[in-house]
Amino acid sequence: MYLNGTMRINSQGHLEIGNVDTVDLVKDFGTPLWVIDEQGFRQNCRDIKQAFSRLGESMVIYASKTLCTTAICKIVAQEGLGLDVVSGGELYTAIKAGFPVEKIYFHGNNKSREEIKMAVEAGIGRIVVDNFYELKLLDKICKELGKEQDVLLRITPGVEAHTHEYIKTGQIDSKFGFTLPDGQAMEGVKEAISLDNVRLVGLHCHIGSQIFAMQSFQHATSIMMDFIAEVKKTSGYELMELDMGGGFGIYYYHGDEPPDVEDWAEAVMLTVESKAKELGLTTPRVIVEPGRSIAGSAGVTLYMAGSVKEVKGIRKYLAVDGGMGDNPRPALYGSKYTAIVANRANEAAVETVSIAGKCCESGDMLIWDCDLPSVTAGDIIAVFATGAYNYTMSSNYNRLPRPAMVLVNNGSADLILKRESYEDLIRNDLIPGRLL
Ligand code: LLP
Repeated sequence: MYLNGTMRINSQGHLEIGNVDTVDLVKDFGTPLWVIDEQGFRQNCRDIKQAFSRLGESMVIYASKTLCTTAICKIVAQEGLGLDVVSGGELYTAIKAGFPVEKIYFHGNNKSREEIKMAVEAGIGRIVVDNFYELKLLDKICKELGKEQDVLLRITPGVEAHTHEYIKTGQIDSKFGFTLPDGQAMEGVKEAISLDNVRLVGLHCHIGSQIFAMQSFQHATSIMMDFIAEVKKTSGYELMELDMGGGFGIYYYHGDEPPDVEDWAEAVMLTVESKAKELGLTTPRVIVEPGRSIAGSAGVTLYMAGSVKEVKGIRKYLAVDGGMGDNPRPALYGSKYTAIVANRANEAAVETVSIAGKCCESGDMLIWDCDLPSVTAGDIIAVFATGAYNYTMSSNYNRLPRPAMVLVNNGSADLILKRESYEDLIRNDLIPGRLL
């Protein structure tokens, strides 16, 4: 169901989030507007944390690539989760938000020298080393700084997750990680153990995103546990941390049937436990890195309806004041979304329209064939489940300023991201003297 968290339709037939009427939000903040349901976001953190912790020693770290601002980092820290960052920019945001650095994990397949240095100097919890080049570079940087760094190695287990081609990452033919089946992973482990300035504490893998098939997690976990046993056998070294990444899928569109988070927790935790018994290993501490399943459902984007174009006998296009700039997912992945008319949410659908963005591109379509009450310019279109990978993947294509983001909770709405101005758009532009 698209209504989740604190979302409901109020007595005026308006969509309400966090006890705030979305019609008022539009009056106060304009459109397009990213709205984040604080309680919904927090509840998702709690549900996942609870699902894993009841099954054993575990830590949930939020994948900040999903939705990252200083306020979001604060909430994640308050919920007691760790944080997965994947760039100097995300790390900087977390540090500025006062996120406990020892609970930050740093990912990435091509971390720069500066990024690594920044992380080590900050005292980051773990660096998840992706390749041999990084392993050597990290060791060298640690030596220069006189520091030792706890690391995980990212392993590519060779698991096909059933999801979109571009968001699969566990298969062998991937830019990420040390490949397991060809022996690279074992070589990486041996090298990491031999280095003086890094301390290998465990392994990581991430098989993909928007996954509904829990067998994929079970399978990957089982392979990783077998590898931990192999490492113990060949080197005598017992790895005490297993990070199984993120990837748990969510509801976007009718037909999507995500399992419960408990199913995900069981797929991972029970496999870890049974494999540890079978292989005579100490049960490692389990880490998971959900992003979409925390932020996705908590976000709604509000747009203003504008022009309508009818192609007789073919289709009716309804254009809104945003599009692929604030949500590139439909254009990139063919992702499907659900929308309603937020100011007339109780009215029955009477027509099928296709919701278009305002970018100068035919592919800028937010939703094809959406059943809505009859819509006119000035109506508010709410698109659900836009909390994940919308703001963080947004762009200024066509020099459209990025929307504002508000955090709603208990009747109040706080701006957590200012709307970009035209001035912001030219802030970094320079005109060489010879052009003046
Ligand atoms: N950990 C690692 C190492 C990751 O690469 C990712 C996502 C996550 C955790 C979080 O995965 P989640 O729980 O959100 O599925 N832009 C694409 C998704 C790319 C996912 C990249 N990695 C999309 O919009 O669908």
